[in-house]
Amino acid sequence: MNVRIAVCPGSFDPVTNGHIDIFGRAADLFDEVIVATGLNPSKTRLFTPDERIDMLTEVCRAFPNVRVAGFTGLLTAFCQEQGAVAIVKGLRAVSDYEYELQMAQMNSSLAEVETVFIPTSPEYSFLASSLVKEVAMFGGDVSGLVPDFVRERLITRLDERKRSGA
Ligand code: PNS
Repeated sequence: MNVRIAVCPGSFDPVTNGHIDIFGRAADLFDEVIVATGLNPSKTRLFTPDERIDMLTEVCRAFPNVRVAGFTGLLTAFCQEQGAVAIVKGLRAVSDYEYELQMAQMNSSLAEVETVFIPTSPEYSFLASSLVKEVAMFGGDVSGLVPDFVRERLITRLDERKRSGA
């Protein structure tokens, strides 16, 4: 049997309930899904790659055909290495589309890999890791937006940052 592998790439800094919704739906569509944290050079990160992988591994335990990996180079090179036929991305709004379309087209010019867009469930359409971090930084309640253990790690990391003056 031909195993259809998809890669769900992202920064996941940290993983949100919106990401988890996409992982589960991708897992229903493909035989195997690799949730992969990569480098987005235009973003600064709160958690290290190992910490992000650790949180992703914890949340992906719920999906038997999903595994977690990190990659450092091009996403297309990682997809080729893994034998993946598709890249799965969640689309929240029209504003996501322009950037995602550009990346999808660039990626398909680099390798034979399709990008599949999954529309975000309406309850998560406003959800972004960057906003979750900002809300938590100013003392807002992010429960319901990220898993509880992620919320705890987020609060701890922000406290550490505050105390160190970073
Ligand atoms: O969650 P993000 O930050 O939107 O994820 C972006 C990510 C990591 C998927 C993207 O930046 C990426 O693919 N980085 C790897 C380097 C690469 O392949 N760049 C070319 C993209 S067209």
